[in-house]
Amino acid sequence: MPQERLPPRHRVLSGIQPTGKPHLGNYFGAIQQHIDLHRKEECFYFIADYHALTTMHDADEVRRNTFEIAATYLAFGLDPSRAVFFRQSDVAEVTELTWILSTVAGMGLLERAHSYKDKVSRGITPTVGLFLYPVLMAADILIYKSTVVPVGQDQIQHVEITRDIAGSFNATFREVFPLPDHRLSEAPKVPGTDGAKMSKSYDNTIELTLAGKPLRKKVMSIVTDSKTVEEPKDPATCTVFTLYSLLASEKERQELADLYRKGGLGYGQAKEVLLEKIEDTFADFRMRYAKIVADPSTVEEILRTGAMRARSVAAQTLAEVRAAVGFRA
Ligand code: ADP
Ligand code: TRP
Repeated sequence: MPQERLPPRHRVLSGIQPTGKPHLGNYFGAIQQHIDLHRKEECFYFIADYHALTTMHDADEVRRNTFEIAATYLAFGLDPSRAVFFRQSDVAEVTELTWILSTVAGMGLLERAHSYKDKVSRGITPTVGLFLYPVLMAADILIYKSTVVPVGQDQIQHVEITRDIAGSFNATFREVFPLPDHRLSEAPKVPGTDGAKMSKSYDNTIELTLAGKPLRKKVMSIVTDSKTVEEPKDPATCTVFTLYSLLASEKERQELADLYRKGGLGYGQAKEVLLEKIEDTFADFRMRYAKIVADPSTVEEILRTGAMRARSVAAQTLAEVRAAVGFRA
């Protein structure tokens, strides 16, 4: 029988920090494509708790957020027998690789990192860990020899830094690492209730598990301009419309855009339409989520099994790296 030629499989990897509750930006920027990809590619997804320590030091909160993020992925249909799903800190090998990579990562490269500069300008203490964050992220990506990193726009520079560090390592020692590429979703920068990028750090998120009154309060707090009901409005510059577009069909999108342009539709009404759409879209997710959080030991078991699988791959790469730099492999 002729051998069927299969397209090369990618190794996909991504992480999400347990610094708060997952929100619409995380979903449309990252989680949605993580779930899609794990049906066709070999995927590694983890909860980046080592990274979370660069901005938070509340043990209970880290534990709670980690659990909630794990439950979120499972409720969206992540099949842990397909993807390797784990907690970053269960694979301590990654910290050893971080050290080794830090010796070939230029200071200038890290000094140019936007995320570091943004965080410091927001008052986060500039610790060595915060500065080293992109090297830890490079180690995450490289230790599994990942080739595709699905993330939102804010993480592109970190993937570029990873390529740079991998290139330095390969040139200094020998070719160990493939150079990874980032992969953006169709919504790489989802706006928050204030119109800026939705982020756990800006207190402008719409959390995925919200429903009923608290969800209504959030949606009603979305900032709009002060046009009256009668005035025609520009859908392209309105956060309510942008969020609706992520959830609605093309036809629904067109219909609402027409109402905006015609005038006669108030922002309050547009928010009602958005509210209903969010309620409907995530209703099944919320039901599955409630079931999963009621069974924490299953979630823990899934993360531990994932960590064992991740560790065996990480240990192999680390042995190669140790030999390449002159250590006992
Ligand atoms: P946050 O900024 O809320 O702390 P994270 O840094 O944990 O979110 O990001 C987890 C993933 O979600 C990353 O891939 C990130 O790029 C993506 N992401 C976060 N916020 C948004 C957003 N507003 N739009 C699109 N993607 C986002
Ligand atoms: N820094 C990423 C974020 O804040 C999380 C992360 C850590 C990550 N390690 C990673 C993402 C490796 C992709 C690949 O969103």
